[in-house]
Amino acid sequence: MSVPNIELNDGHSIPQLGFGVFQIEPDETAQAVSVALEVGYRHIDTAEMYGNEKGVGEAIRASGVARGDVYVTSKLNNSFHRPDDARRAFDGTLTELGSDYVDLFLIHWPLPTLYDGDFVSTWKTLEECKAHGRSRSIGVSNFQVEHLERLAAESGTVPAVNQIELHPYFQNREVRAYDEEHGIATEAWSPIAQGEVLDDPVVTEIAEKVGRTPAQVVLRWQVQHGNIVFPKSVTPERIRENFEIFDFELEPGDIERIDGLEQGEAGRAGPNPDQFAYVPG
Ligand SMILES: NC(=O)c1ccc[n+]([C@@H]2O[C@H](COP(=O)([O-])OP(=O)(O)OC[C@H]3O[C@@H](n4cnc5c(N)ncnc54)[C@H](OP(=O)(O)O)[C@@H]3O)[C@@H](O)[C@H]2O)c1
Repeated sequence: MSVPNIELNDGHSIPQLGFGVFQIEPDETAQAVSVALEVGYRHIDTAEMYGNEKGVGEAIRASGVARGDVYVTSKLNNSFHRPDDARRAFDGTLTELGSDYVDLFLIHWPLPTLYDGDFVSTWKTLEECKAHGRSRSIGVSNFQVEHLERLAAESGTVPAVNQIELHPYFQNREVRAYDEEHGIATEAWSPIAQGEVLDDPVVTEIAEKVGRTPAQVVLRWQVQHGNIVFPKSVTPERIRENFEIFDFELEPGDIERIDGLEQGEAGRAGPNPDQFAYVPG
């Protein structure tokens, strides 16, 4: 199974399918990532706030796959938006991963109600990480249109990616359209809505018709829209199942039926980035 690469606006490229490790216990992470690498995943999405960067690094080193053949993303902890804290936190990420670089580092949340709303200084710190070659690419997560517009007005670097909640019940179309118009790749988090969308009759009907599982159908819908995805699972059969999405195609009518599941704000499962202000204690 070969996973397509998506070209980023800074000349680097990223595998369109990866493996997410949110809510995997730190002591179970190395095992899950090992299974994913064995299946063939070459892109892992972690974050400081997940507490499991160390397990990701361990699994990569133990796998026999060269570090340069695995795309690794991590994200800045909400506690460390101030530039000096962000620099230290980034060093901490590299230490935990046991690597001298990451492929992609993101501001995890914009936190517009904290730090005087100054995510621009935070972004400039990420620009330093990129300039030093310690993060090959930099991007943002959970940024709304107004946050992206502010970065465009007040900094010199367009984020390579914007990682946002996006699944059939919450398609985040306004942000998705802004990303596309400005050359920002969209990464869809909770791509199968943490499983919530898998019993939907539209999804199960299409799955039956094409002879695939509901998760494969929803992930296929994502990749046909050009989104980057990294479904999470600790279940080896599901890790494998989620990887097998590049040997079939959904027809346009089926894509449209899934498009029709959009529920707007009611479909949002995670926090609204305009209000989200969680800072780990
Ligand atoms: N930037 C952000 O703010 C943010 C927020 C959330 C997530 N993320 C990223 O996005 C990744 C994915 O999102 P997510 O973890 O929230 O949710 P998800 O990938 O949409 O769904 C994960 C859930 O679905 C289950 N599952 C996985 N594959 C399945 C399958 N084939 N059939 C049935 N159930 C299946 C998993 O169960 P088991 O594990 O029990 O198998 C788990 O409960 C995260 O791991 C993280 O890397 C980023």
